[in-house]
Amino acid sequence: MFSRKSSSLFSQCQVKSFVPGQLRRNYSLTNEIPKATLYNGNKIPLLLLGTWKSHPSETANAVEAAVNSGYIGIDCANDYNNENIVGDTLQKLFQKGVVKRDDLFIQCKLWNTNHRPKHVSEDLMATLKDLHLEYVDAFLIHWPQASPSTGKSATTRESGAYPANYKENTMFPVDDKGFFTSDKESHYLETWRAMEDLVDKGLVLNIGLSNFNRRQVQEVMKNASKYRPAILQNECHPYLQQKDLIDFAKINDIQFQAFSPLGSGSTHLGVEPPPNGLIPLDHPIIKQLALMYRKSPAQIMLKWNIQRGVSVVAKSRTPERIKDNMAIFDFEISSDHMKMFDQINYGWRHLLWRETSNHADYPFKDELPYNYQLEKAPLESSSGTKSKKK
Ligand SMILES: NC(=O)c1ccc[n+]([C@@H]2O[C@H](COP(=O)([O-])OP(=O)(O)OC[C@H]3O[C@@H](n4cnc5c(N)ncnc54)[C@H](OP(=O)(O)O)[C@@H]3O)[C@@H](O)[C@H]2O)c1
Repeated sequence: MFSRKSSSLFSQCQVKSFVPGQLRRNYSLTNEIPKATLYNGNKIPLLLLGTWKSHPSETANAVEAAVNSGYIGIDCANDYNNENIVGDTLQKLFQKGVVKRDDLFIQCKLWNTNHRPKHVSEDLMATLKDLHLEYVDAFLIHWPQASPSTGKSATTRESGAYPANYKENTMFPVDDKGFFTSDKESHYLETWRAMEDLVDKGLVLNIGLSNFNRRQVQEVMKNASKYRPAILQNECHPYLQQKDLIDFAKINDIQFQAFSPLGSGSTHLGVEPPPNGLIPLDHPIIKQLALMYRKSPAQIMLKWNIQRGVSVVAKSRTPERIKDNMAIFDFEISSDHMKMFDQINYGWRHLLWRETSNHADYPFKDELPYNYQLEKAPLESSSGTKSKKK
C-alpha cells in the first residue's frame, strides 16, 4: 500500500500544467540510441539490454528483439548462465546481415571466483568462446569480493552457475557449513593489473568496475598501472539515486552506468522490500509523470537517468517492452519534473547480497541492517540457477 507519508509528499509536488508539444519542439524524433564518449575516446551507448534473469529459453528472443529494434549494446555476465545463448543469437543476426559485430557494444564481467590474476584471462576466454567473439567492448570486475572455488582453475558457466561446496568448483562456492567463501589470497588491485593486460592483448576495449564503492574505485584509480577504470556499473534508480557516486565518476571521467534502472521490476521484492512497499515502477510520482508525458513509467525512469548523463542497462525478456524501453529519445523531462525525483530518493538498494558481507571487501557494509547475522548462501544463484544440493 502507498503510505500516507509518500502520499502527502506527492501532493506537495503537483506539477504545473504541462503541454507535451512545448517540450518536444526542441527535440527531433530519433530512433538511434545516443552514445557517451569514454575518457579514452571510445564510445558507449546510453541504453543497453540487460540479460540477468533472462532464462536461457527467453534470451534468444530478447536479444533478437533488441537488435531488431535498434539496440546496439548488450550487458552480459558469465554467471547469468545465458552468455552462450546471447552468442548463438548474435551469430545468427550477423549471418543474416541484421547487424555487424563492430556496430555493437558487448559488455561482460569477470566473476568473483576468478579474481586471481592467473584466472582472469581464463574467465574472459570462456566468455569469448560462449559469445563466439574475438573481443568484447567492455569487461568489468563484477564485484570487489573475491570468492575462490578450489582456487586451482577458473570457474566458468560450464562449471555450474549455482551455489555448491567449493570442492565442486562452481561459480558460487560455499564452505562446508554453507556460507559463501572468501579468497584471502587475492585482492582486486592485483586483479586490475590482469584486466589491464587484456586491453594490451586487444581482447577487451575498455575495462571497468561494478558494485565497487567510492573508496574502492579510488583505490583502483590510484593503483592502476596503465589504464584507469572507464566504466562504473552500480545499482541506480529513483529509489537509489547515487548522486555522490555519479558526481565522483563525472569528476574523474568515468562513465557511470545504472544497473536495475527499473528497480529490477518486482524481481527482488521478497528479498529486500522497498521502504514504502511499492516498487519504483508503481510509485505515484512516476506514474503521474508517465501520464503527463504520455510515456510508460519505465520510459520515464530510464529517461530520468539518461538526462543525468548515466548509461542505463535495462532488462526485459518481453519484446514489446524491449521496444518501448528504447522509445525515450523523442522527449525531455523538464527541470521542474526532474526535481520531483528528489522526493523518492529513499536509499533503497535491492541487491545487497548480504550473504557475502563477511568478506573484507564487501562494498555495502554501511547499508546492512543493525545486528545483521550472516546468512548461509541461498539454494539458488542470483540468476535463478538451482543448486545441486537440496
Ligand atoms: N553488475 C551487477 O552486479 C548487476 C546486477 C544486477 C543487474 N545487472 C545488469 O543490469 C540489468 C538490469 O537490471 P535488472 O535486471 O535487475 O532490472 P531492471 O532492468 O531494472 O528491471 C527488469 C525488470 O523490469 C521488467 N520490465 C522491463 N521493462 C519493463 C517495462 N517497460 N514495463 C514494466 N516492466 C518492465 C522486466 O520484466 P520482463 O523481463 O518480464 O519484461 C524485469 O522484471 C541486468 O539484466 C544485468 O544485465 C548487473
